[in-house]
Amino acid sequence: MKILVIGSGGREHALVHKLNQSKLVTHIDVIPGNDAMTSIANIHSEIAETNHDAILDFAKNHAIEWVIIGPEQPLTDGLADLLIEAGISVFGPNQAAAQIEGSKTFAKNLMKKYDIPTADYREINDKNEALNYVDTCALPVVLKKDGLAAGKGVIIAHTREEAVDAVHTLYPNDNDKVVFEAFLEGEEFSVMTFVNGDYAVPFETIAQDHKRAYDGDQGPNTGGMGAYCPVPHISDDVLRQTNDRIAQPIAKALKAEGYHYFGILYIGAILTKEGPKVIEFNARFGDPEAQVLLTRLESDLMAHILELKDKKPISQKWKSESVVGVMLASKGYPASYEKGHHVTGFEEDLEHYFVSGLKKDEAQNFVTSGGRVILALGEGDTIQKAQELAYQRVSKIENDALFYRKDIANKALK
Ligand code: AMP
Ligand code: GLY
Repeated sequence: MKILVIGSGGREHALVHKLNQSKLVTHIDVIPGNDAMTSIANIHSEIAETNHDAILDFAKNHAIEWVIIGPEQPLTDGLADLLIEAGISVFGPNQAAAQIEGSKTFAKNLMKKYDIPTADYREINDKNEALNYVDTCALPVVLKKDGLAAGKGVIIAHTREEAVDAVHTLYPNDNDKVVFEAFLEGEEFSVMTFVNGDYAVPFETIAQDHKRAYDGDQGPNTGGMGAYCPVPHISDDVLRQTNDRIAQPIAKALKAEGYHYFGILYIGAILTKEGPKVIEFNARFGDPEAQVLLTRLESDLMAHILELKDKKPISQKWKSESVVGVMLASKGYPASYEKGHHVTGFEEDLEHYFVSGLKKDEAQNFVTSGGRVILALGEGDTIQKAQELAYQRVSKIENDALFYRKDIANKALK
């Protein structure tokens, strides 16, 4: 089977790595891909991820049978729709269904209508009204810009002053859309679930991301600074509740509203005293959750995609090992950072690294090209062993241009 993966980050690197192990997959192309994938796939960096017509032409000319779309932007821009119209199978939701990630108000309204547990919220489309609201609302308050923001459109304001500043930041125009949410206390976790129409099949392994830039969950929100799985202190019962109260109901809600969702739905959840509640939905695999989950998944991802398509049972097999992934990012990220710094030490051991933001320069050396740069993996019988190994691999590549958190997976060790 010939498949095409869309995207260029660490999540897509992990997807390509996993799909390359499938007996069902004979050939993998990636658009645009990255230079660390060349030993496992054919990368086509000459085609931009945003050039949907060129992607369609490529898929037709190369007899691609399945396209697997990694990132949110092409999904919310309707790449799946274009390919499906041309008769190509796509793993990833169409534009209408991808609104579940693309629009916070869409997701919140759907959850409210179908009684899916999430933080109370209010949508405010007027800056002055927002300023009035934060004058009296309960604190802390969480402000979320409508639309995609690469994990950076959320501000948690603990004081009135911070809330006012946040309003100024999130309303460059007076009539922007912002969701104001009640702050939820609890531990966050990530559940990926397969969805086809009105039913969901959650991954049996939960992962945990580390969204803040610095140790101890300090600093600004990022796309994710590291992840691990499984999460031993979040019980199977919580996963069951997440399935019963969130995964199945949201699939049914989407169907009832006339949407057809096919792909991975990411449930960003928080375990409150009242049980799991939704922080956000994403229309795709998490990054870096995919890197650790797909490493732990023993069964064949491509087989599961076909089973989902045919509405057959999906019997997942997971390794017994724990997996920890530590992200190294460019100093300055998630704000501005330099590019072009040399990174080395991983090239001979690419099995244990997933690359997000590196490219080869003219001398064929890897240099930084993005904010999040490379994730070092560790596997082990325990989280602690996996963590030790991940940090040993970090130490092989760390340098002055990069930073990383030193506490990835510590929550599981307490
Ligand atoms: P999001 O982009 O919606 O996932 O938000 C980014 C991060 O902000 C989340 O991972 C949480 O750490 C935090 N966050 C978002 N919404 C809430 C909330 N209602 N209560 C507490 N923390 C939140
Ligand atoms: N790791 C969070 C995300 O993929 O949105």
